[in-house]
Amino acid sequence: MSKIIQIPKTGGLTGAITIPGDKSISHRSIMLSGLADTPVTITNFLHAADCWSTINCMRSLGVIVEEDTGGVLTVKGKGVYGLSEPGDVLDAGNSGTTIRLLTGLLGAQPFFSVLTGDASIRKRPMARVITPLAKMGLQIAGRGQSRYAPLAISAPEQVCGIEYDMPVASAQVKSAILLAALYANTPTTITEPIPSRDHTERMFETFGIPVKREGRAIILEPIQKIVAPKRLDVPGDISSAAFWLVAASIIPNSELALINVGINSTRTGILDVLTQMGADITITNNRWSGREPVADIIVRSANLKGVTIDAEIIPRLIDEIPILAVAALFAEGQTVVKGAEELRVKETDRLKAVALELGKMGATIIENPDGLVIDGPQSINSASCDSHHDHRMAMSLAVAGLAAQGVTINEPDCVKISYPDFFDVLSKFRQD
Ligand code: S3P
Repeated sequence: MSKIIQIPKTGGLTGAITIPGDKSISHRSIMLSGLADTPVTITNFLHAADCWSTINCMRSLGVIVEEDTGGVLTVKGKGVYGLSEPGDVLDAGNSGTTIRLLTGLLGAQPFFSVLTGDASIRKRPMARVITPLAKMGLQIAGRGQSRYAPLAISAPEQVCGIEYDMPVASAQVKSAILLAALYANTPTTITEPIPSRDHTERMFETFGIPVKREGRAIILEPIQKIVAPKRLDVPGDISSAAFWLVAASIIPNSELALINVGINSTRTGILDVLTQMGADITITNNRWSGREPVADIIVRSANLKGVTIDAEIIPRLIDEIPILAVAALFAEGQTVVKGAEELRVKETDRLKAVALELGKMGATIIENPDGLVIDGPQSINSASCDSHHDHRMAMSLAVAGLAAQGVTINEPDCVKISYPDFFDVLSKFRQD
């Protein structure tokens, strides 16, 4: 892809879009299958750069991952105690989920490893995972107080269970602890301040690992082995569907059917907020993909109104704030986002990037330390904007341009991180 893409405005979006596999679930499917004794076939895996970072790291630990011509993967794992010492530094690329979850898994192994990633990953705080893992006896060193990568991980003397009250709601931190806890000699209890996505817990259960939930606490007992499923199907990613949900809502004459969307309730904050804003959304064909609920979603153009998005719902839509900011520009009245300071430590500082880049299109967005205030509707112009090498920024800007006067996006190829076909799909379904 070139260094710049131009997105002209459109008169509507129509058609049926099959949503690509869930990024979070794809990562976890490879990690757990890598710990299995029997092969696992994974369908609808997300073939995007982040998930390939996980595949490459797991391969470096001895796991065999084969891909057929249709993109179906077969993972031949090494068993819970069978991973081998990597001969080189492991590269998580741009993927926070890869580096954070693997820190928990690798920290519990009887060998030395080093984990790093791209420039963005090396600026993302790792202390939040290292602090609880150190309490479990894991030995992980990183740079400075925030414990930035590269991380040097040594074999622990032993891995102990902990009782941990998480200061921040984070599925990545929770999952890192759960992966280390697989190797602990005593039970682990994690309590979350606000529930975050529970794909790790569900994936553990799919692999025969019992997970107890008591209120906001998650309890894992020591295990000896796991019992892998033969097949695993990854549902579509609601965080990818989110761009189409907002685009069809704010662009007149639109009607999209979004096929195969994961609707796990720890992820559906976007549906709740858009519905509250007045969006025309119908959920149909509810079904299960293993332990994950899935549906098709019909979305039609609607007149949106502003809403308040509070701290309590943030973990259920943590990755959707940039696209919700675009929705807010087209909504009648004020939208306020609160308690979203976590966005400052994502792929980029997303609160700052949203205010800056939509600002270039003429939008007025107030940036608060923990959120945004957006008065709508606003008329926005065409502009040349930067993705900040952040996939969700690039896709949010594209939707803003489609709905307004067009946009030029610099460094758009970062969409390969989570939605490699995004711009092709956009071209296919636009009705100029
Ligand atoms: C993810 C959890 C979230 C989310 C990220 C993927 C995961 O991060 O922002 O894109 O797969 O567990 P936090 O758990 O750190 O908020």
